[in-house]
Amino acid sequence: MKIDQIKNNFPIFKKKINNKPLVYLDSANSSQKPKSVIDRMSYFYENEFSNVGRSVHSLAVTATNRFEETRDLVKKFINAKHREEIIFTKGATEGINLVANSFGEKYINEGDEIILTELEHHSNYVPWHYLRNKKKAVIKFAKINENLEIQIDEIKKLITNKTKMIAITHISNVTGGITPLKEIIDLASSKKIPVLVDGTQGAPHLKLDMQKLGCDFYVISCHKLYGPNGLGILYGKKKWLDEMPPYQGGGGMIDEVKKENITFAESPTKFEAGTMQTAEVVAFSESIKLIEKIGLDKISENENDVLRYGIDKIRKNNSINLVGDPKNKASVISFTLKGIHPHDIATILDDDGVAIRAGHHCCQILHEKIGMSATARASIGIYNTKEDIDILINAIEKCKKVFKI
Ligand SMILES: Cc1ncc(COP(=O)(O)O)c(C=O)c1O
Repeated sequence: MKIDQIKNNFPIFKKKINNKPLVYLDSANSSQKPKSVIDRMSYFYENEFSNVGRSVHSLAVTATNRFEETRDLVKKFINAKHREEIIFTKGATEGINLVANSFGEKYINEGDEIILTELEHHSNYVPWHYLRNKKKAVIKFAKINENLEIQIDEIKKLITNKTKMIAITHISNVTGGITPLKEIIDLASSKKIPVLVDGTQGAPHLKLDMQKLGCDFYVISCHKLYGPNGLGILYGKKKWLDEMPPYQGGGGMIDEVKKENITFAESPTKFEAGTMQTAEVVAFSESIKLIEKIGLDKISENENDVLRYGIDKIRKNNSINLVGDPKNKASVISFTLKGIHPHDIATILDDDGVAIRAGHHCCQILHEKIGMSATARASIGIYNTKEDIDILINAIEKCKKVFKI
């Protein structure tokens, strides 16, 4: 499929926003959904719907098969070793909460240390904060440099024999900086420290290979990967998932329930309590198929072209300030305009059909570090083109005129 045809797969681009064609530059927040995903949800409800993993009637067997086929597709998509390493969650946030609770319950005790970075999304800090309070553990933040990049030396400095977890983003949702993950994971494994990767922004842009990467946990947000909302994936190494206690209790995740005692199912069922997002999981298979049809290499190449084009244009424009300057970067351009609040920028851009996000992007620690309460963020997805960037820059020029800067 040609890159300039990709937009045709997404029905939302037929819509006009404020009488203008939609220029969607908010995929880091949530991506738009292709027709194949939307149709697969409807088809499932119209033809195949039943709860999964419970009844034995024909519909239930079909639904369960479709659900488990998606698990197999995900396993292949991220090259996990075992299908039991793929757990469906509500989102990346729930995946991190699951690990912080379950891994934390078993392996993290008073005085133990967790290393995060100053770039982390609140989803990769708040769950560890709860654990810190519950277990009297310690959180250490690795400092980022003036380009807002993660430095492996800063992580090295923080490691002690009490370090029990390094939890780190794959790509920053504010700067787009790509973390040197392999080096960090190799360093951590040489010291037998588990690594959780917040892959929310990584999975839509970079080819994943869990066996090569070697991390212990990796979380994915399906709604940013052109899939349905309310769905995420937690990859965990089998050796941990076998040992970790369940996160939530309820139907489906048990082996045997007696008045005095309960035994639990094996992973992944152990971690999938209650009725799961059934149509969402089944339809997510279509996101993977679309990505594989286009090819992640081609997707990255196109997104990088659009990104470089945008950054070049912004660099030539003296009144737009780029936030962060990581050397290795993907998909995100955060910026400010002197004297205009990012919310005003986003509102004025919306008049031209340009959708961006403004705010602290759930990264208040980073924003405090750079001395700003908010920034504007344009984020690039599978469907964006250089023309979208031209429209963005023109809309920014209009915004400057409105505010007379
Ligand atoms: C870097 C990062 N981590 C975590 C999350 C939370 O993901 P989810 O919405 O799937 O819970 C986000 C969402 O914006 C994110 O950008």
